[in-house]
Amino acid sequence: MAVKAVWGAATDNAAIPFPDAAMSPTRPLPPHHKHCDDLFAAAEAAVNEHRWADGNAAYDRFQAEMLAHFATEEDVLFPAFEAASGMTGGPTQMMRFEHAQMRALLGALATTVAAGDGDGFGGTAETLLILMQQHNMKEENILYPMCDRALAGCDLPIDHELRTRAAAACRN
Ligand SMILES: [Fe+2]
Repeated sequence: MAVKAVWGAATDNAAIPFPDAAMSPTRPLPPHHKHCDDLFAAAEAAVNEHRWADGNAAYDRFQAEMLAHFATEEDVLFPAFEAASGMTGGPTQMMRFEHAQMRALLGALATTVAAGDGDGFGGTAETLLILMQQHNMKEENILYPMCDRALAGCDLPIDHELRTRAAAACRN
């Protein structure tokens, strides 16, 4: 609940004047990365303490929000960027590939946490954490600024759509 409140506050840009939002349609996404990081840390903490009921619930939440984040980028942001820039085989393809890698790790982690396999969870979680950090850094430092530049002149309400889609995945 606290995590959602923090993320909600960070991305509640409805009151921010339009020119700001137009300059950075990807603005809702970095706070949602942080929100997913926090959910992952909560799941890891529960698993490390062998609190399996909490661990399963926390992991389910983390996985649902990660998948919603990937889907939001793949369904909304990447197609808009590709249409605006004409770049279909570059950075968005790489990000889709990394999403697929992370989806596979998320599935493997779900199996370990459901089985109460703390050792299996720990090893795979470490791999996912490194991938997530590298992926999010690439998006936030390279791809999102490219998207903001490419989409700055278009009338599509990308930031609103991103925020709405990501927020819909948040559960109390
Ligand atoms: Fe991504």
